[in-house]
Amino acid sequence: MIRKTGSYKTWKAGGETIEAFIPLPLPPRNPTLSIDGKLGEKHQAAMAALGRLQTASTMVPSPNWFLYGYVRKEAVVSSQIEGTESTLEDVVVFELNRQAKDVADVTEVCNYIDALNYARDQMNSPNGLPICTRLICNVHERLMRGSRGQEKQPGRIRTSQNWIGGTRPGNAKFVPPPPESVPELLASLDKWIHSSDQLPLLIKIGLAHVQFETIHPFLDGNGRVGRLLITLLTEFWKLLDGPFLYLSLGFKRHRQEYYRALDAVRTEGDWEAWLDFYLDCAIESAEDGTSTAKQLFKLVNDDRRKFAESEHANLAAMRLFERLPEQPMITALKTAEILHCTKPTATKAIESLVKADILVEITGRLRDRIYAYRKYLDVLGQDTLPIASDS
Ligand SMILES: Nc1ncnc2c1ncn2[C@@H]1O[C@H](COP(=O)(O)OP(=O)(O)OP(=O)(O)O)[C@@H](O)[C@H]1O
Ligand SMILES: [Mg+2]
Repeated sequence: MIRKTGSYKTWKAGGETIEAFIPLPLPPRNPTLSIDGKLGEKHQAAMAALGRLQTASTMVPSPNWFLYGYVRKEAVVSSQIEGTESTLEDVVVFELNRQAKDVADVTEVCNYIDALNYARDQMNSPNGLPICTRLICNVHERLMRGSRGQEKQPGRIRTSQNWIGGTRPGNAKFVPPPPESVPELLASLDKWIHSSDQLPLLIKIGLAHVQFETIHPFLDGNGRVGRLLITLLTEFWKLLDGPFLYLSLGFKRHRQEYYRALDAVRTEGDWEAWLDFYLDCAIESAEDGTSTAKQLFKLVNDDRRKFAESEHANLAAMRLFERLPEQPMITALKTAEILHCTKPTATKAIESLVKADILVEITGRLRDRIYAYRKYLDVLGQDTLPIASDS
């Protein structure tokens, strides 16, 4: 064991011993963390990768359009970890016409987007909530809205014992703290997050994530809220200008390693191994984001130039083209609305973009047609289809 990170409260139930883990408050002590040597180098590499992502995300003409797509991508991936099967296209279609094969699945993804937007509005407005337990509860409430999450007590800190793995606390892989300890543990996590600690902020975020998962304050949705916390804190502390750091893809790709690293913090006090894994995921995610931003930037620039030079170019279509990154699927009605034009003008603009191979019709229907900027969605959707984990 490297260090002690908590203690167990044990009791007997039905002839079995149950051991609920109560973590010590952050930061790690005895020994304290030292961010030097290999870990220091990795931290620097991660900060450099974040710097490149920052540059790439401001390179695009409007930060909003990267934000639009990227947030949806993360929402899809994070929800897929939980078992949701919606694709990026399902989500974009649903936002357009409220129709989906599996409404419950898509609702879960849309809830994630809504929860993220809510939290960002709060923390970026002068009278809003900072990142604190109340904000986290409100985020959870939004995340769990709808039929599936209802019995999971949306927005409420649990008042019963939960467990991870196994069929009951007695045979579980991990039993989080007993409910009576949860409010105090959350308060202490809150306090530490806002304390002036000597640790680098990116490291603090990684520690906070584990502590949050170990407390496991909700009956469900702890993974999703804990991953959102990472994204929100990187923006809150201005490591990035927007909510662009998403670890869901990495945690999903390396799921077994992720769980192992979480376990090792509790059982071995091995914060270093966790940080090593977490920083690797941060690097992977930042590089993925940088490459996505560059590809999108290039695609939009190339298409804009080709379209402007083509025989199909006209003003309404050019204006519509500029809106596509934030609205990668459209209908004639939607186009009329965003361009403030008549439906025939909208239809004509769409047709020009179809002829130029920028938009494609995706329903095969004659009415209520939907047009997608498919190449754009393809770049954005890379890696969002369910993929097997590494081990
Ligand atoms: N051994 C462990 N120790 C601490 N936390 C763990 C452990 N195993 C899993 N977890 C955390 O619990 C989360 C799952 O909890 P929960 O089901 O409440 O969240 P979710 O959002 O519904 O699920 P998911 O994270 O799978 O999308 C995992 O994402 C992980 O962060
Ligand atoms: Mg769950």
